[in-house]
Amino acid sequence: MRILVTGGAGFIGSEYVRRRLNSDPTARITVLDKLTYSGVEANLAPVVEHPGYSFVRGDICDPDVVGQVMAGQDAVVHFAAESHVDRSIEGAGPFVQTNVTGTQVLLDAAHRHGVGRFVHVSTDEVYGSISEGSWTEEWPLAPNSPYSASKAGSDLLALAYHRTHGLDVVVTRCSNNYGPHQFPEKVIPLFITNLIDGKTVPLYGDGRNIRDWLHVSDHCQGIELALHGGKAGEIYNIGGGTEVNNHKLTGLLLDAVGADWDRVEYVSDRKGHDLRYSLDDSKIREHLGYAPQVTFTDGLAATVAWYCDHRSWWEPLKARAELG
Ligand SMILES: NC(=O)c1ccc[n+]([C@@H]2O[C@H](COP(=O)([O-])OP(=O)(O)OC[C@H]3O[C@@H](n4cnc5c(N)ncnc54)[C@H](O)[C@@H]3O)[C@@H](O)[C@H]2O)c1
Repeated sequence: MRILVTGGAGFIGSEYVRRRLNSDPTARITVLDKLTYSGVEANLAPVVEHPGYSFVRGDICDPDVVGQVMAGQDAVVHFAAESHVDRSIEGAGPFVQTNVTGTQVLLDAAHRHGVGRFVHVSTDEVYGSISEGSWTEEWPLAPNSPYSASKAGSDLLALAYHRTHGLDVVVTRCSNNYGPHQFPEKVIPLFITNLIDGKTVPLYGDGRNIRDWLHVSDHCQGIELALHGGKAGEIYNIGGGTEVNNHKLTGLLLDAVGADWDRVEYVSDRKGHDLRYSLDDSKIREHLGYAPQVTFTDGLAATVAWYCDHRSWWEPLKARAELG
């Protein structure tokens, strides 16, 4: 199977590409990535020698490049996106451009070239915030940030291409990912790397916001199941099964690096900060056999160890993104 992976130099996309190529000598993957501030080509270093791997630097909004790389593909796994909520609050333009227009350009090309399957990787943030219970795939979309609104727009476009053109689209919506190679602006790697460097960590509001943490390798397992077994036109939630509030998460990270609460700086809450995310992922568990393998305790310990051991990976990225 020939697969086009967009955003394959990012956190989750690169995990997907490494996992797929390392487990299958016959796999063929073309990565299309613009290498924005969060794209790191070195994330793909372990697979550059694989005979089925190729990399194209390009923008998913560019119909010419997309047309060229789409020709001959059997499937698309679409990760490329502007992905950081805080940046979308500062400026929504690049989010609408990449997440909405870029997805539409890809869908058009996939339809034109008769691609067999298009997996659109989305987020639970499209559902908004939920005070109790958990979202099923039928839940109405109520995104609150420009990021999640742009992802909701791209989800609807993807599903519309299925209904209108019969394109074989599957949408996945996952909870918050963590693990190695995550850009150090996101809360877990930002906190770990600040703490390693003896700095403070910025905790939003009162720290009551709850997230369902999903290890990136479990997320990629879910995407693989959706790619091969998902039903066309369906949505699959992918959760981690671990709901933790940011105050508790901060305590766990302080403990992991042997730091105290005096290293925590309480900062003004994020505008429109969703209070709680909670996914019901029984559909993918029951229909496709999804079962997360990594416990939050083990996954977090391994993630802390990875950042401790890979300063040369994250230090230049923090400098590049001017993260303190
Ligand atoms: N990280 C999470 O917790 C999380 C949770 C839910 C959903 N998601 C979704 O998963 C996907 C991947 O997220 P991530 O955390 O790996 O993001 P990331 O920011 O680490 O990586 C994004 C990648 O996309 C590339 N890219 C951005 N704009 C592009 C463009 N116009 N053309 C081509 N490439 C472009 C970047 O260079 C980068 O390599 C996104 O669609 C995101 O919405 C992420």
